[in-house]
Amino acid sequence: VTTASDGTTPRDGWSSRSAFVLAAVGAAVGLGNLVRFPAEAANNGGGAFVLFYVACIVLIGLPVLLSETLIGRHGQASAVESMKRLAAESNASKWWGGIAGLGVAAAFMILAFYCVIGGWVLYYIGLFAADIVQSGISGGALTGMSAEDIKAIFPDLLNNGFTMSVLDVAFVVITVMFVARGVSGGIEKASVWLMPAFFMLLLGITIYGAFTGAFSEAVGYLFTFDASKLTGPVMLAAVGQAFFSLSLGVAGMMTYGSYVGRDVNLAKTSATIAFADTSVALIAGLCIFPIVLAAGLSSDGGLGLMFDTLPHAFQSMPFGTLIGLAFFVMVGFAALTSSISLMEVPTAWAIDKFGLRRAPTAISIAVAAAVLGILSAYSFNALSGFHPLGFIPLFEGEGIFSALDSVTAKLFMPIGALLVSIFVGWIAERRLIDNENGLSGGLHRFWLFLVRWLCPLALTGILIVGIFPSLL
Ligand code: PFF
Repeated sequence: VTTASDGTTPRDGWSSRSAFVLAAVGAAVGLGNLVRFPAEAANNGGGAFVLFYVACIVLIGLPVLLSETLIGRHGQASAVESMKRLAAESNASKWWGGIAGLGVAAAFMILAFYCVIGGWVLYYIGLFAADIVQSGISGGALTGMSAEDIKAIFPDLLNNGFTMSVLDVAFVVITVMFVARGVSGGIEKASVWLMPAFFMLLLGITIYGAFTGAFSEAVGYLFTFDASKLTGPVMLAAVGQAFFSLSLGVAGMMTYGSYVGRDVNLAKTSATIAFADTSVALIAGLCIFPIVLAAGLSSDGGLGLMFDTLPHAFQSMPFGTLIGLAFFVMVGFAALTSSISLMEVPTAWAIDKFGLRRAPTAISIAVAAAVLGILSAYSFNALSGFHPLGFIPLFEGEGIFSALDSVTAKLFMPIGALLVSIFVGWIAERRLIDNENGLSGGLHRFWLFLVRWLCPLALTGILIVGIFPSLL
């Protein structure tokens, strides 16, 4: 338990450094690593994308991650309040708090569509569990279904707004059960139990795939660097993925950082978080591609890789039902620890801003997220003609679900991260930052160079190209 920087209000917080690491890794590791990363790698030519992605994590993601956690830890308050405090102590405008405000809004929007996908994961867990009850674990998955039947599972689900809504609400309810119980009593508990279970499942399935699947083919696919494939759009996709995966630009890591005690070295901890997140993405690639390639399937990426191609592959594998169930349970654990962090951002903000109690605040946010989630679920069917941001050319033709995804990934996240790096690099008082970051000597100077120059330049580039794709 830490104390607010005014020294008066006792504040809930992580019970140890390792609890923070697990919670932050839980926030970072999610659908982004398991669904988005493999799909983006498949879409963007494999090895070139992967290596550039790792470079983005180290040179752009990690410095911003450290910046966000240090703003939160310094302020010991919700993201907006922490940002305002640091700005005030640096004699800068309190409007800098508004950056975190944008982040809070973005976290809420991501939460809404993230829980819809969480609901799909629940659906697949049910599908494989029912399959085990019916036909045991020894055969392949989805016994008796033809290729056409399997192909129809995902589109049928997307056509069924009601089922998706019920599952979305279920996922929101599971999420809020942890958030409502507080930082050390709820959020931390989820990570401390679910993350180790997640790692065991991931390693188990990957080892299984290494023996039964096309492992060396997958390694070649993911790690063969072909410089000619490193085009502008591929680089753009890699930076965007790095930010999404590390949960940056949406005040999430500021919020989690605010529960960290003064004794924790933030530089080391941020490096651990980034390392764990990147390892999981790479292992997820080595988990998924051997299975897909061995089944002779290919994927054009996108959500279909997980919800269409993989179920197909599980059908032809020994113990496919069991592996399929374990796989989707694993995805569910990862998604849950991330949705918890997404819900915590607006919850912490509202508690601070309006002086409310945690449980009713979290529940109100959950209700709002469920409503927006249900609208997103119907945007695949009944509401497919409704394009909320259709008047902006960048979001033309996008329904609610995909508009929420695009507007956060293309605008909110890069703008948030850009302003954070400018704030920490140029605006905040050096002394305050230097006391907080846990770096010294050459590493400190290198980090400062990255937040001052490389991050702002790279992020400005991403924003411009994200808004005017025709420039590439
Ligand atoms: N990093 C999460 C993932 O890779 O799935 C997504 C995410 C979680 C983004 C929390 C932002 C956030 F605040």
